[in-house]
Amino acid sequence: MPKTSAHSSSVGKLKVERMQQIEVIQTSAPKPRPADESLQFGKVFTDHMFVMNYDAGQGWHSARITPYQPFSLDPASSVLHYAQSVFDGLKAFRGQDDVVRLFRAPAHIARLNRSCEKLCIPTLDPELVEESFHALVGLDRDWAPRLPGTALYLRPTVIAADRYIGVRPSLSYLYFLILSPVGAYYAEGMSPVKILVSEKHVRAVKGGLGDAKTSGNYAASLYAAEEAHHAGYTQVLWLDGVHHRYIDEVGTMNIMMKIVDEVITPPLSGTILPGVTRDSVLTLARDWGLRVSERPITIDEVVKAAEDGTLAEMWGTGTAAVVSPVGELGFRGQRVVINNGNTGALTTRLYEAITAIQYGRAPDIHGWTQPVRQSMSQAA
Ligand SMILES: Cc1ncc(COP(=O)(O)O)c(C=O)c1O
Repeated sequence: MPKTSAHSSSVGKLKVERMQQIEVIQTSAPKPRPADESLQFGKVFTDHMFVMNYDAGQGWHSARITPYQPFSLDPASSVLHYAQSVFDGLKAFRGQDDVVRLFRAPAHIARLNRSCEKLCIPTLDPELVEESFHALVGLDRDWAPRLPGTALYLRPTVIAADRYIGVRPSLSYLYFLILSPVGAYYAEGMSPVKILVSEKHVRAVKGGLGDAKTSGNYAASLYAAEEAHHAGYTQVLWLDGVHHRYIDEVGTMNIMMKIVDEVITPPLSGTILPGVTRDSVLTLARDWGLRVSERPITIDEVVKAAEDGTLAEMWGTGTAAVVSPVGELGFRGQRVVINNGNTGALTTRLYEAITAIQYGRAPDIHGWTQPVRQSMSQAA
């Protein structure tokens, strides 16, 4: 199979001097692509994947694109026992101009590396990870759906690969990137969700791994989320792990609210994930001249604001939904209704503004999007 550089522009050649070549083995049996209307989240994967290995002697090496296929892992692989693994999640969007754009790739790569550091995983060359995004999305760009609201989801992941069941940082790792076309989150319009405030379960504590995107955090969230589902709620509102009063996050999203004229979100104090959408929303809110506070806020302050009518709106932020309006909190058996259960004006404005940038309909003044570079097969 041909060895090929990821692209052939002069900039690409410079990069290739520094970076390793990417071997490409294209599938001889492309899969049928599902109709855009049938897409959900995370169930369908594209034709190819990007893989590379790490070992202490060679560093990150053997970057390659292969047909999408299962791995063969030794049952003693340390990731299967001690969850030494990190990942990230971002999207590429096909605009009406047919350009496929990555949204905030460098921010996601920086977070992936911060997660690596916390899990004692060797960090990755950000340029090589970015190259993996462009190379794979470029090759599988036909999988980027066209229907409004749909996207191609990228899941870069690093797992510990040692065949060893002692507890220690692995000496070898696997980086892989897979792609999944995903459906429109709001195919039937934005509708506010009901959230259960958990005073019993905690997601993370100060000094722990709450600000890393690592598998164990998601395993730790399942029990409380199941309880919330059984009680008729969509997700859990996580409170801090010490006082059980300060608001941390909502499900797998960051949480924000507007009280009178103040946009409030918990600070990045180590227990919450530094969301890229959180940053985008705060940047836009500040651009628009709104008063933005990253400050601790207790559930008691929120309930009081709801009672005295000053809690104007509340929403979650995350890559999957962009923003998700919260219409009701379940707290100590009471229903705390927000904005009469309706989506707020600011929530709607933020959603419209961010999606307009993602799909290339609005000027990208912050340089958040990158058109995916020409595919290797086209460049060759
Ligand atoms: C726990 C958690 N909080 C917040 C977020 C939102 O982060 P982002 O906006 O980068 O998707 C996510 C999703 O990645 C998450 O898993």
